[in-house]
Amino acid sequence: MSGVMEIRSICCIGAGYVGGPTMAVIADRCPGLQVTVVDLNQARIDAWNAADLSQLPVYEPGLDAVVGRCRGRNLHFSTDVDGAIAAADMVFLSVNTPTKTKGIGAGQASDLRWIEASARQVAAAARGHTIVVEKSTLPVRTAAVIQTILGAAEGDTPAGRKSFSVLSNPEFLAEGTAIGDLEAPDRVLIGGEDPVAIEALAAIYSHWVPPECILRTNVWSSELSKLTANAFLAQRISSINSIAALCEATEADVREVARAIGADSRIGSKFLKAGPGFGGSCFQKDILNLVYLCRHYGLSEVADYWEAVVNLNAWQQHRISALVVRQLFGTVTGKRIAVLGFAFKADTNDTRETPAIRICGDLLEEGAQLAIFDPKVSAEQMALDLGQQPGQGEGVWQKVADPLEAVRGADAVLVLTEWQQFAELDWQQLAAVMRQPAWLFDGRAICDAGAARAAGLKVWRVGEG
Ligand code: UDX
Ligand code: ADP
Repeated sequence: MSGVMEIRSICCIGAGYVGGPTMAVIADRCPGLQVTVVDLNQARIDAWNAADLSQLPVYEPGLDAVVGRCRGRNLHFSTDVDGAIAAADMVFLSVNTPTKTKGIGAGQASDLRWIEASARQVAAAARGHTIVVEKSTLPVRTAAVIQTILGAAEGDTPAGRKSFSVLSNPEFLAEGTAIGDLEAPDRVLIGGEDPVAIEALAAIYSHWVPPECILRTNVWSSELSKLTANAFLAQRISSINSIAALCEATEADVREVARAIGADSRIGSKFLKAGPGFGGSCFQKDILNLVYLCRHYGLSEVADYWEAVVNLNAWQQHRISALVVRQLFGTVTGKRIAVLGFAFKADTNDTRETPAIRICGDLLEEGAQLAIFDPKVSAEQMALDLGQQPGQGEGVWQKVADPLEAVRGADAVLVLTEWQQFAELDWQQLAAVMRQPAWLFDGRAICDAGAARAAGLKVWRVGEG
């Protein structure tokens, strides 16, 4: 192909946390472009089409307004995957790629079955020339797999000649701030070999992204940059959490340390918040991908180096559950513990890899009675994540409607997500209904510790000696 290719219609396979918000912002910024998001999951598509915008399947501040502006105009949600592929000049692959749970590479490699299935579907249903954009986080060299599957379908068909170009266009949005991240990205990365396809995608972003922020690389660099960016970010969190543990053992305060080191412009102040460890769909998965890749290429020291970031994250979570048990006189059997926050970070309903899973799991194992409150996570999701239904007795959990109900009769409050409302809790009111002596374990250092102490609670804050 040579010359300029104008894109009029795009399709995105996968209506999840990445596909939904990304396509909504593209539709919003490119009114001349028809954007169709497709998914196999009928319930999910129905929720995207819900008249009540508060029912969208992804909770993301500002998303409802963007969807409200474009839906039905140039943004559509559908389960007609083949029809949308056939109509599109460009197809984004935004399907899930979780870590494999069994077989070769179990626990580290990504499960590419959904990528492969969607690539095969594109191969079969596409018409004319189609640009295929890899949007999910994938191990390096996945674009080659997609290219091979599509290549086998290229050639003359009754509907005309079929051909493909594959691009890698990794997503750097963070959940909870997705709309802002998409509207003003630090950079957009486009990896590919076909200059016409690269420029066609760049032209879409040019509607709102300054040209100097659109970076072009080869496919492998693009794929590897995504893994590396997430590995570096996650490494900062494990680094600060390791120092938090040292601060707790000494007279230091990790927030003072973070401020002091963050003032060094070479280090920078972001991503230095100590907490219960990182969660989310990307960090652990991407580092494990990197580890798998390094082992594959015989770089075992490099693999060990990055694996330590993930190991420290798990350690931090077990450390927190262990210290809760220790402070509650070595046993939590039958004790009520209020858990505030279940999502992996504030402003999202996503619970993938949330620290709450491991920490609550440990406490359930110890026989605790957890009263869990989260403003956006459903009880059904908690049941899936905890691997057990709500119940009464020992080693059980239930979802409660507000923090006051959670702490009633509890020996401790454990804060796991930094929802803003937890910074504004009335500790006099809460402490009055708890069983004394009672504890606040603030895993995010978000609560008003002074007020909690004044209300008679014993307080532990992550990283405070
Ligand atoms: C991340 C990357 O930021 C994003 O660029 C990529 O596209 C996907 O993965 P996300 O997982 O949505 O985004 O959220 P992020 O804000 O990066 O937070 C990840 C985890 O790290 C959360 O559990 C968060 O609570 C934790 N975190 C973050 C900390 O514990 N401390 C910090 O200072 C920052
Ligand atoms: P992400 O955070 O990467 O967006 P999600 O799991 O939220 O991940 O979304 C991925 C979506 O992709 C899911 O809704 C899933 O149903 C959808 N999906 C997976 N495979 C296919 C496929 N072959 N065709 C259409 N949709 C698919």
